[in-house]
Amino acid sequence: MNNERKIKTNLKAALLWSALFFPAGLLMAQDGAALFKTNCSACHSIGKGRLVGPDLKGVTNKRSEEWLGKFIKASQSLINSGDADAKAIFDEFKVVMPDFNLPDADIKAIIAHIASQSPAEAEQAATVEVVETATSNEPAMPGSEVASKEDIKKGSELFSGKTSFVNGGPSCLSCHNVSNEQVPAGGLLAKDLTSVYSRLGGDAGLQGILKSFPFPAMAHSYKNRPLTDEEVRLVSAFLYDADKSNIYQVSNSGNGIFIYGGGIALVVLLILIALLWYNRKKNNVKYDIYNRQIKSSN
Ligand code: HEC
Ligand code: HEC
Repeated sequence: MNNERKIKTNLKAALLWSALFFPAGLLMAQDGAALFKTNCSACHSIGKGRLVGPDLKGVTNKRSEEWLGKFIKASQSLINSGDADAKAIFDEFKVVMPDFNLPDADIKAIIAHIASQSPAEAEQAATVEVVETATSNEPAMPGSEVASKEDIKKGSELFSGKTSFVNGGPSCLSCHNVSNEQVPAGGLLAKDLTSVYSRLGGDAGLQGILKSFPFPAMAHSYKNRPLTDEEVRLVSAFLYDADKSNIYQVSNSGNGIFIYGGGIALVVLLILIALLWYNRKKNNVKYDIYNRQIKSSN
């Protein structure tokens, strides 16, 4: 779609939505923002990029309200029912979004909030500002970029279980691996977290997860044993450092190609060396035996 047409469609959709939601929308927007923040913001932003799930800016232009309601309530049921859009988005992210058993009114309010934060392209700059003020009442935590060596070390010890979490939650290492000299190899039950810091878009995405545990396995483990703010800060500092000091990491996009490409190249090289070596040895041994036999038969 060319840009002009895109803007036009977006505008049309925006008009349609404001017509639908104008009277109720203004009233619900506040509520929707709060609901969004508690339930969704650990995994989704609206206009600030991808976190665990897709950026939801403009999703209300793309999908019907009915579809959105079904997806939010039970995404896996929608996917399993054969819905092509739901399947496509799941295939892209491959993370199961938890089901939200919320009252219809709450879901409506959340959808209205997403719509109100999704204006046409031309107004994008304004949206970012709105989102920023909406989240600026968060207590400020020093960012991981300014963490000291000491903090990073403390974070690594919490991650690996060398020191325990104050509220008794299990170590991260029991389920997650991080390639870093500061910690031993970890569990393979869940994703490798070596580059999770940049994958989740920095402190905001990561700390959202560590405060609300949106994944069932983690929620179960930390439900009555949450991390303290200080622990969240230290673990984030460690994951920031692990990401940064990962020598294969190449700036931002496409780093997977380098990691996997490098790995494959290494394996191919090793196989080649092994094959060449094998052949050489085999020849030599055969010749040895051959020569010996020739000699002994004489
Ligand atoms: C644990 C992380 C997580 C939480 C919490 C979460 N989602 Fe999702 N969401 C995802 C993932 C991952 C996807 C991508 C699809 C998939 O993997 O199933 C997704 C997809 C979606 C989609 C489809 C987007 C599209 O382009 O079609 C919508 C809509 C959505 N989420 C809305 C919400 C809303 C609203 C909430 C809060 C009530 C929420 N999500 C909470 C992870 C999450
Ligand atoms: C009981 C096992 C378990 C423990 C313990 C655990 N996690 Fe998780 N974690 C999971 C699962 C399962 C997921 C869902 C994604 C997946 O399948 O890997 C997840 C997801 C995550 C994600 C999102 C990954 C991504 O790329 O989207 C982060 C970040 C994370 N965990 C960090 C931590 C940290 C930090 C700790 C320690 C405080 C921790 N986890 C402890 C099981 C666990």
